[in-house]
Amino acid sequence: MPLVQVRLPARQRKYEIKIDGGLLSELGPEARAVLGSSSQRAALISNQIVFEHYGQRAAQSLKAANFKTTLWLMPEGERHKSLRSLAQALKFLTESGLERGDVVVALGGGVVGDLAGFAAATYLRGIPFVQVPTTLLAQIDASVGGKTGVNLPAGKNLVGAFHQPRLVIIDTQTLATLPAREQTSGWCEAVKQGAVGSRKLFQQTRSLLNRGGADFSLWLSREESQTEVSATIAAHCHFKAAIVAGDEREEIGRVDHRSRRILNFGHTTAHALERLTGYRRFRHGEAVGYGTLVAGEISKNIGMLASDELESLREAVRLCGPLPGAEDLSIGEIVTAMKGDKKSLGGTTMWVLLERIGRARLVDGKQIDKRLLRSSLRAGLRSIS
Ligand code: NAD
Ligand code: GLY
Repeated sequence: MPLVQVRLPARQRKYEIKIDGGLLSELGPEARAVLGSSSQRAALISNQIVFEHYGQRAAQSLKAANFKTTLWLMPEGERHKSLRSLAQALKFLTESGLERGDVVVALGGGVVGDLAGFAAATYLRGIPFVQVPTTLLAQIDASVGGKTGVNLPAGKNLVGAFHQPRLVIIDTQTLATLPAREQTSGWCEAVKQGAVGSRKLFQQTRSLLNRGGADFSLWLSREESQTEVSATIAAHCHFKAAIVAGDEREEIGRVDHRSRRILNFGHTTAHALERLTGYRRFRHGEAVGYGTLVAGEISKNIGMLASDELESLREAVRLCGPLPGAEDLSIGEIVTAMKGDKKSLGGTTMWVLLERIGRARLVDGKQIDKRLLRSSLRAGLRSIS
């Protein structure tokens, strides 16, 4: 079974990410092994869709490991990653009688994980939590690294905390029920991560995309696919773990190519697209798919990235699946929406660009000519349809 260790130098913390098909049934014993015998209660947070597929198995495994298990299903969707849901989650934890040694278990995609993780970070000033990600995006990215939080009306993820999970359990079989758009969304994040990670990670991701083809669920449901999928997810987790180990809290002054900020490749445009369309048109990863292409175009247009490297990126994003159209959006409005970006520094957007596949560079937005930005946006948003 692939196993990735996340080592955090501050206070010498570490946790494990375990990855395998069918691992959900081991959730209880695995959590018990990490939390010890004094942990009595497990508060399981999920949503209706995920719970219908996997909830009973998770709850039964926790109960079998002697956790008094309570359940709260948060409402479905990104708009419920909110302060209102946080208040409801905290009420649930209080009513469940959770104490400091007990545990919050997040079963779902990034929305459930971010919200449940933030509730665990703030309840009693922080209690343990376990991530059980069930989307591709959450398995390769959101469940690893300890960023938790909720959205505000003013923007995404504007309130949050760094709170590392004590354990991440990835059951790759859960991907078999993932709707096609969620698969595309996860693949786009995987391409993004490969592009800033290493050529090897990028190629591994691309080759899995090629093998999975259009009907990834069907391919995934075959026994022999599990090993390959687990290995690729492990490679992504390994890369993210290394970045997080070196820059857990995304230090403001860091502008080197191993800064945690490189994980935001594609996100400047992505967040603007999401905001401009009221979070309705794009799944997060779909917007990231466009975002990587725009960042790739800028990189090429300022003479940093070779054309054939950009073409590899385009091909990889195309392989992820169809993206909702974006050509109708006003370039001017996208540029305006970028100005409210959380990643800006001193009022300037810091762009994550590419020197080549596998090597990112942080560039101050002031160095990017406005006309070049607009033409790169046009080209990036057009290049997929
Ligand atoms: P999501 O959590 O909304 O899940 C997508 C959809 O798939 C939902 O409808 C969900 O109910 C459903 N679903 C989940 N697992 C399923 C399964 N196995 N079978 C069938 N349906 C399933 O979306 P997401 O893409 O997982 O996460 C996006 C969120 O993650 C965003 O809020 C983003 O900000 C956040 N995020 C956080 C980090 C981080 O480091 N904390 C990183 C990246 C993204
Ligand atoms: N997804 C970006 C990060 O975890 O830093």
